[in-house]
Amino acid sequence: MAEQGKIKKIGILTSGGDAPGMNAAIRAVVRKAIADGLKVVGIQKGYQGLLNEEMSEMTARSVSDSIQQGGTILRTARSEEFRYEEGRKKAAAICKKHGIDAIVVIGGDGSYRGAYELSKVGEPVVCLPGTIDLDIACTDYTIGFDTAINTALEAIDKVRDTSSSHERCSIIEVMGRNAGYIALWCGVASGAEDILIPEKYNYDEQEIINHIIESRKIGKTHHLIINAEGIGHSTSMARRIEAATGMETRATILGYMQRGGSPTCKDRYYASVMGAMAADLLKQGKTNRVVCYKNGDFVDYDINEALAMKKQIPEYQYEIAKALSI
Ligand code: F6P
Repeated sequence: MAEQGKIKKIGILTSGGDAPGMNAAIRAVVRKAIADGLKVVGIQKGYQGLLNEEMSEMTARSVSDSIQQGGTILRTARSEEFRYEEGRKKAAAICKKHGIDAIVVIGGDGSYRGAYELSKVGEPVVCLPGTIDLDIACTDYTIGFDTAINTALEAIDKVRDTSSSHERCSIIEVMGRNAGYIALWCGVASGAEDILIPEKYNYDEQEIINHIIESRKIGKTHHLIINAEGIGHSTSMARRIEAATGMETRATILGYMQRGGSPTCKDRYYASVMGAMAADLLKQGKTNRVVCYKNGDFVDYDINEALAMKKQIPEYQYEIAKALSI
């Protein structure tokens, strides 16, 4: 049951892969919480930093000049120790010791699971979706996705120029772990001839080869394939495609450049609203919630309920990509 005024001091951390807009989220949590009379402790390097007690009190000035910066001013990490219940109990005890009544966790799916486990050993949490992968089921938007796809798209457009000039096939591998959202969006927006995503890939390379041969016949000068990290193997795929089609084929793996850079307006805006909501929830004594963007609105769900939700690649959006590349 929510109990207004119960929470006086909150911790905040970023966990897992960094994402552009995390700083805007931190800034919003810190400033809204302080404006509402709460104290805020910034925890460095995610759950591992919590276990190492790397923390200090934040003020409104601690987050000055950060809204436009990529990365996370709190640093981030993946913690082995926190994977075990013993580690999580130690983390909860550290929170008690420092008088931290609840923690705001900004991160992806794995960070949410960690937060849920932490809540089960007695430290209340609120989560914000921070990942470039867009793969958190309970939310239609994750902080960092917009910047990442625009960064990737800019790079893809450049590869396309040289690909057309040389009449080559280009396989461009984008991030996304086991999810194909970055590949789908960048594929549609770059006019790619093929989009390979783990959710739909049937490992039939012959289909791609046939597509390249047909495209050549109808006068296409290049062939752009956006390949998701979850499929990977772009370099060996390029060698096989070149051998089978006779079309020069190059692989470009975009890698970590997709995770860096100044956040777009959209990422800053969503992060700011979601961050403020997290602080509001805690002010009202509501814990073990996740802040989401769902069906056009900012909402919050119980963390347990949120983790049980499932998300799928929208079928129609994937199918139209094929029609648009004829
Ligand atoms: O979750 C964000 C992400 O960039 C994924 O797209 C990628 O698979 C992963 O993180 C890479 O993680 P790391 O920084 O540990 O190499």
